[in-house]
Amino acid sequence: MTPRNRVQILHGVNLDMLGRRDPDHYGTLTYAELEVRIADFGYELGLVLSFFGTNHEGELIERLHGIIDVADGIVINPGAWTHYSWALRDALELTGLPAVEVHLSNVGEREQWRRHSVISDLCVATIAGKGVEGYREALELLRREFER
Ligand code: DQA
Repeated sequence: MTPRNRVQILHGVNLDMLGRRDPDHYGTLTYAELEVRIADFGYELGLVLSFFGTNHEGELIERLHGIIDVADGIVINPGAWTHYSWALRDALELTGLPAVEVHLSNVGEREQWRRHSVISDLCVATIAGKGVEGYREALELLRREFER
């Protein structure tokens, strides 16, 4: 059996504006810098990463449709779509792939509306409030999942 090591990193709405968003919640890294850090984590862990980010919900959904046979797992930070996009939830579910949900900020301790995620029960784990380190943890979890 071919080893599973391919991870799709997905970012949703407004994450391209990192570096301009509230640093108390999101830190100071730009989106490009965040992707570089995640790429480093992937390299260290022997994983093959692909990146996709968009502000358009339909594009994220089409990307999910497209990765079904070409990725082994998903790390997803959907931004605000996390809290209300049932279309995103359906698309994630239909991939059948193990996914880890990541949030840079501690969504559980912010406004009430951020405390609910429409995808968390589909995910292997949700990691929030750990900044960029949360992505390393997510990749480690997926690697463990691939070894099962
Ligand atoms: C976020 C948290 C969301 O509530 C917010 O809408 C975002 C970013 C995070 O990474 O902390 O855009 O997903």
